[in-house]
Amino acid sequence: MLLIALNIFFTLTSSAPLADFATDQDALLAFKNAITVDSNVVLSNSWLTNTSICDWVGVSCGIKHHRVTALNLSNFGLHGNLSPHLGNLTFLQSLDVSSNNFTGVLPTELSKLHRLKHVNAASNNFSGEIPRGILTNMSALEEIVFNYNKLSGQLPIDMCNNTPKLKTLFLKENQIHGKIPTSIYKCSEMEELSLSVNQFSGNIPTEIGNLSMLTILSIYDNHLQGNIPSSIFNISSLELLYLGRNSLSGSIPTNLDNLVNLKELYLNTNNLTDWVPKQIGQLTSLKYLSLHENILTGHIPKQIGNLSALQALDLSSNKLAGNISSSIFNVSSLRFIYLGNNNLSGSIPVNLDNLLNLQVLSLKSNNIIGSIPKQVGNLTSLLLLDLAYNKLTGELPKELGNVAELELLATPFNDFLSGPIHFSIFNLSNLKIVDLQQNHFSGEIPISITNASQLIAIELNRNSFTGPIPDFGALSIFYEEANSS
Ligand SMILES: *[C@@H]1O[C@H](CO)[C@@H](O)[C@H](O)[C@H]1NC(C)=O
Ligand SMILES: *[C@@H]1O[C@H](CO)[C@@H](O)[C@H](O)[C@H]1NC(C)=O
Ligand SMILES: *[C@@H]1O[C@H](CO)[C@@H](O)[C@H](O)[C@H]1NC(C)=O
Ligand SMILES: *[C@@H]1O[C@H](CO)[C@@H](O)[C@H](O)[C@H]1NC(C)=O
Ligand SMILES: *[C@@H]1O[C@H](CO)[C@@H](O)[C@H](O)[C@H]1NC(C)=O
Ligand SMILES: *[C@@H]1O[C@H](CO)[C@@H](O)[C@H](O)[C@H]1NC(C)=O
Ligand SMILES: *[C@@H]1O[C@H](CO)[C@@H](O)[C@H](O)[C@H]1NC(C)=O
Ligand SMILES: *[C@@H]1O[C@H](CO)[C@@H](O)[C@H](O)[C@H]1NC(C)=O
Ligand SMILES: *[C@@H]1O[C@H](CO)[C@@H](O)[C@H](O)[C@H]1NC(C)=O
Ligand SMILES: *[C@@H]1O[C@H](CO)[C@@H](O)[C@H](O)[C@H]1NC(C)=O
Ligand SMILES: *[C@@H]1O[C@H](CO)[C@@H](O)[C@H](O)[C@H]1NC(C)=O
Ligand SMILES: *[C@@H]1O[C@H](CO)[C@@H](O)[C@H](O)[C@H]1NC(C)=O
Repeated sequence: MLLIALNIFFTLTSSAPLADFATDQDALLAFKNAITVDSNVVLSNSWLTNTSICDWVGVSCGIKHHRVTALNLSNFGLHGNLSPHLGNLTFLQSLDVSSNNFTGVLPTELSKLHRLKHVNAASNNFSGEIPRGILTNMSALEEIVFNYNKLSGQLPIDMCNNTPKLKTLFLKENQIHGKIPTSIYKCSEMEELSLSVNQFSGNIPTEIGNLSMLTILSIYDNHLQGNIPSSIFNISSLELLYLGRNSLSGSIPTNLDNLVNLKELYLNTNNLTDWVPKQIGQLTSLKYLSLHENILTGHIPKQIGNLSALQALDLSSNKLAGNISSSIFNVSSLRFIYLGNNNLSGSIPVNLDNLLNLQVLSLKSNNIIGSIPKQVGNLTSLLLLDLAYNKLTGELPKELGNVAELELLATPFNDFLSGPIHFSIFNLSNLKIVDLQQNHFSGEIPISITNASQLIAIELNRNSFTGPIPDFGALSIFYEEANSS
């Protein structure tokens, strides 16, 4: 009797894990079967039934129960569909099939994996909708990375209903449309959210502002409309905020000053109106500020001069007016300044010489007057100087000849820049493009231009140059065309 009882006990306790172990093997073999091309022959060489699945390349098992806990087949050169049998790997915590060439849908069975914490299917050709269960009902899930696929459909309106641990949701570069569900606020531990480069429409839900742990909010390149909810600017943990390339309108919320951790702010290419809030000066961590291609008016706030970490400032293609505040040129960390295509007036601030890291200064198509300050010669990192279409007068400062790295020098269509060109300027050996057309430059064209061996184009027409034509080599055609007009 005891023997029989023991025997039954033994059978019960040992057979259950064995059966589950077989289930895992069946699931992996079904997965292997659905692979049409195994470019790196990893599965063909390693996934063999005479060895334990726990020894198969890309498979990890739990130490005690020998059940599959992680599959990492990233960048294995696999083509085919993702088998629904993966949903039978009940102990799976991490699934990474990124950077292969999977096609077809993400199987709904994945949402049965209630221990799953990480799922990465990025950089494949998955299509169809994201299984509803994955976005609504996976209580252990922390990370979803589905970037760079062809996923379509809409996000479920009850997303985040039971995904309380979700920290990362990356859906960048897919074809998902419809509204961003308001229920997204229920993912209250969300830290990184990217819905960029999709077809989302409607307003940005105010409820996103309740995601108080967000560090990345990236929803650029969609069809979003309406105002930027000021609630977003309440998320003081934000480090990267990308809302560019939508159809957002209204003004920039003024409660910007909460965003003390913000490093990058991209609101470019929208239809934002009104002023650039002066509170922007409080974003002391800011490195990149891009507000270009909007309908912003008023002055450039002088408080931008308080952004002591700023590296790139792009306010181009707006309707900004008034003088350029000299405070901006005090920000010595700046590498890129784009203020072109506005209605800026006044003269170029002479404290340019602080900008020792500046690589690009573009002030083109404004109404800037006065002369080009000689301090431009202190910009030893400068690669590109574009002052086209302004109302500048006076000579090109000979100090420009100190800007050894300069590749582009453009001052066309100022009408009244005048005087001779100093030979030191044309001595710059990295010059690729020189455009000085439509001004009043005079004297001889410095022969030193023949040292500019990288020159691709030179435009000198509509000036008052005299004397011999230097040997432009292959470029002579440009000069002749230029000279004929
Ligand atoms: C498993 O089978 C393959 C061929 O099917 C063979 O090459 C390999 O040596 C076998 N491995 C073991 C451990 O028996
Ligand atoms: C999978 O392996 C790749 C390459 O070894 C690694 O970069 C990646 O972090 C791994 N994925 C997971 C989820 O551990
Ligand atoms: C595993 O999953 C498949 C497809 O989802 C299902 O048809 C099958 O019954 C499952 N097998 C086991 C042993 O649970
Ligand atoms: C992925 O598969 C498609 C269709 O089979 C094929 O056209 C494409 O070249 C593949 N891409 C890569 C990166 O292997
Ligand atoms: C997806 O498919 C397209 C064409 O069908 C192919 O050009 C591309 O390389 C594929 N992408 C990946 C990541 O395999
Ligand atoms: C959520 O998942 C659990 C466990 O996987 C399942 O029992 C339940 O039916 C699911 N609920 C919904 C609403 O899908
Ligand atoms: C969301 O944030 C708003 C404003 O801070 C607050 O009034 C509201 O109670 C929050 N909602 C939830 C569900 O936490
Ligand atoms: C921003 O946060 C403050 C303080 O927590 C709160 O009073 C205010 O309602 C919030 N504003 C928005 C638009 O959520
Ligand atoms: C801005 O609005 C105009 C007129 O409504 C529209 O034609 C344009 O596409 C909009 N631009 C953006 C970037 O949304
Ligand atoms: C901003 O800079 C001005 C000088 O340009 C200075 O007076 C002011 O104290 C600064 N504000 C902050 C908050 O640093
Ligand atoms: C703007 O600049 C011009 C020329 O540099 C100067 O005469 C004028 O006073 C400035 N205006 C303001 C408001 O600073
Ligand atoms: C600017 O350059 C001039 C001469 O090239 C030099 O005397 C001056 O000290 C420089 N200024 C700065 C701030 O480096």
